[in-house]
Amino acid sequence: MNILVTGGAGYIGTHTCVALLKAGHQVVVVDDFSNSCPEAMQRVETICQQSIPFYQGDVGDKALLEKIFSENHFDGVIHFAGAKAVGESVAKPLYYYRNNVTASQTLLEVMATFDVSSLVFSSSATVYGDPHAVPILEDFPLAPTNPYGRSKLMVEQIMQDQAQADKRFNGIILRYFNPVGAHESGLIGEDPNGIPNNLMPFISQVAVGKRAQLTIFGNDYPTRDGTGVRDYIHVCDLAEGHVQALEKLHDQQGCHVLNLGTGNGVSVLEMVAAYADASHQPIPYVFAERRPGDVAQCYADASQAKQILGWQATRGLPEMVADSWHWQSGNPNG
Ligand code: UD1
Repeated sequence: MNILVTGGAGYIGTHTCVALLKAGHQVVVVDDFSNSCPEAMQRVETICQQSIPFYQGDVGDKALLEKIFSENHFDGVIHFAGAKAVGESVAKPLYYYRNNVTASQTLLEVMATFDVSSLVFSSSATVYGDPHAVPILEDFPLAPTNPYGRSKLMVEQIMQDQAQADKRFNGIILRYFNPVGAHESGLIGEDPNGIPNNLMPFISQVAVGKRAQLTIFGNDYPTRDGTGVRDYIHVCDLAEGHVQALEKLHDQQGCHVLNLGTGNGVSVLEMVAAYADASHQPIPYVFAERRPGDVAQCYADASQAKQILGWQATRGLPEMVADSWHWQSGNPNG
């Protein structure tokens, strides 16, 4: 199949392009490099030994999308493009709604015009807000607590409405838990701008000597060691989940929602220990107050993805930390 990947130069986008090409599909990428760089695309080409058609620009630019759709025939779209920083979304909600919601609506309009009916959308476990129980099932109440999470939920709802209205439209909404790790080649990985907000990139920058110590937000949670528990998933498992979702879209109707996680919770202290083990570097840390908005535990019930897609995460914590370290130590500046 020939697939348009929006945001294909980003962290999850690059890994998904590799997985799609490896599975025998073709890809065309559109990205505005707002949180990625041209070098990342070149590295995907190096890994896959082929060149990838690329358009630079914003998915919210309807004229650009129409040009892309008129110059290519697509069997489906995987939509990653969007902004994803929780704190920034609180400070700049209008930017988040334009960039994440309005741009997605534009994409759906252009897809309808050009009769492209299959869409895999990048959503997040953040739509569940503070879950009343774990593991989290897809039918749990949805209560995102910030504009970023609400922007993801709004696009989910737009897709559900479109699937009701247009019976040709097929969608799969993938709710990711915490993507970490990097491609085994060490050529592509996560490269956050500025000080990382998320745990794994912060730990890897401490291990490589870019930051002095990790601050652990809270050691008084009702968890096995007092630190927050999350469902970390290897980015290559996540990427393979997208390929399987896309392949599934051709024999399904409507719009389906699936969690992509491992189903296993890992605490901050367990992650620190695993990373120190893989990198043979000390990871100094201090405990601080809980971070506002954080929950004690968040992990998936991933059985729907297994049942519907036949997909299941195959890489465990040792591979996640080893591949992250391989990337970080080989590319200390991203
Ligand atoms: C965060 C976002 C979530 C987003 C996800 C993307 C918030 C509140 N949530 O989730 O919306 O979808 O990233 O991956 O920002 N921690 C530390 N020290 C650090 C950083 C993190 O102790 O410097 C702890 C956190 O308190 C948490 C765990 O590590 O217990 C994971 O944090 P993080 O990687 O930021 O992910 P989430 O908070 O789960």
